[in-house]
Amino acid sequence: MDRRVLFFLVWTFGPGEALTQDVTFHTDVAPIVYNHCTSCHRPGEIGPMPFTTYAEVAAYGEFIEYVTSIGYMPPWSPDAEYSHFVGENVLSEVELQTLSDWVSAGKPEGDSASNPGLPDFPSGSQIGEPDHVLSMPEAYLHSGDMSEQYQVFVLPTDWDGATSIRALEVQPGNHNVAHHAILGLDISGTAVQLDNADPALGYESFGGFGFNAESSFFGAWVPGALPVNYPPGIGRVIPEGADVLLQMHYGPSAIPESDLTEINVFLSEEPIEREVFTAIMGPQHLDAPFVLPPNQVSSFHGTLPVTADVSLLNIAPHCHLIGTSWLVYATSPNNQDTVPLISIPAWDFNWQGYFTFPTMTKIPQGYTLHGEATYDNTAANPFNPNDPPQWVYFGEETADEMFFVFIDLVLYEEGDEEISLGPSEATCSADLSGDAIVGVADALILLGDFGCEAACSADLNDDQAVTVADVLLLLGLYGSTCE
Ligand code: HEC
Repeated sequence: MDRRVLFFLVWTFGPGEALTQDVTFHTDVAPIVYNHCTSCHRPGEIGPMPFTTYAEVAAYGEFIEYVTSIGYMPPWSPDAEYSHFVGENVLSEVELQTLSDWVSAGKPEGDSASNPGLPDFPSGSQIGEPDHVLSMPEAYLHSGDMSEQYQVFVLPTDWDGATSIRALEVQPGNHNVAHHAILGLDISGTAVQLDNADPALGYESFGGFGFNAESSFFGAWVPGALPVNYPPGIGRVIPEGADVLLQMHYGPSAIPESDLTEINVFLSEEPIEREVFTAIMGPQHLDAPFVLPPNQVSSFHGTLPVTADVSLLNIAPHCHLIGTSWLVYATSPNNQDTVPLISIPAWDFNWQGYFTFPTMTKIPQGYTLHGEATYDNTAANPFNPNDPPQWVYFGEETADEMFFVFIDLVLYEEGDEEISLGPSEATCSADLSGDAIVGVADALILLGDFGCEAACSADLNDDQAVTVADVLLLLGLYGSTCE
């Protein structure tokens, strides 16, 4: 869309103009909370309190206004103005204003007939019937002493030959404590040795799998995230006899909780013609030796040349507790073109994610990938594991630091830019004209419906109105295709 049109819209209908009167829970607040919060804030999930009814939400009204206004909730670490990812969960200015107006108005309940009802939260697999299920050998008991626990479980495979998969889905056994998980692959037998050396079920390892993080990273899970489900012909291959590694992060709990997590394995229906590889930017790509002096904020800049046309699928920056921000992008040889990849302005180790681009993202041969990370090794960093601050080096331990950007990619093929990697619903709902591409025609339809307040056809974010939030959503999807 023409930027001037956007500015006009923001200026004419910007936040604050609309929706100040009669904000009620059932009509205005429930759709926001159900779409953005209830996936985690319902019984049995990781959110500490449920938000499913008027009473539950109203009891926390002021707190909700506060945690959303500071961007603490919903948890979404990438800057949504820099780049977009599948499953993006951020509140628009209008939604924030609605929550705030509702609290200011005394949290009126309104008419329960207009409550949209809780979304359908699938129990079990979110993407269908798995072909195999890998399970922890037995339930793991996480102690009730309010400690965090990072435990790696080794799940052997016994499939004949190399196995082509389109998705691995982590199915946590106990949502009360399963905070996040990372997946790895081991063909060296090292993980089994570490497991045997540790009397507990699995073995403890904070940052990764306790060895050679370079070749083993295979994906991650956080509450509410959909598994990466590769398009036909694209996928990953698990070598015969490999062990799948599952590192569970268990959050603090006041009572002992047991967990038996499973991994659903979905085989590729079609042969994999394009195997996904993980390019890794690590400490060897940095402009300076990776050492963090105490009482100092240090920044590092890594570069990685792109030696063939490639299409990126997923990206995951990784560091530990002292790291505070990430910026990853690609530049053309003459620096005229910059492709923004991910910005994480406030890194939070506990919400590190594995982010999937909405469509395959081409980076031409000759470009350079850049990764910039900042580490605050001062006493002012509340997450600093050392008090007072110490010299910190590269390593796997809690008080060590890391610098990795994992980038999943395939060699580029014509038309990759059009291949959508997420569930296509979001894109397709913005394809108002039904011509399979989000473009000018859709922008015009949305403008025609602008200001609509009931049964709106162009209400992309389901908040019962067509506002500037829908315009921004459409802009975010602009140019994407929907099959
Ligand atoms: C991806 C899961 C997830 C989503 C989505 C989510 N929360 Fe949370 N929420 C949590 C977890 C986990 C905690 C516990 C604190 C932590 O681990 O950061 C929490 C804590 C909270 C707290 C208590 C904060 C505190 O310091 O005790 C409030 C209030 C809250 N969330 C509100 C919301 C609201 C409002 C939304 C939607 C706009 C939302 N959350 C979306 C997972 C989530």
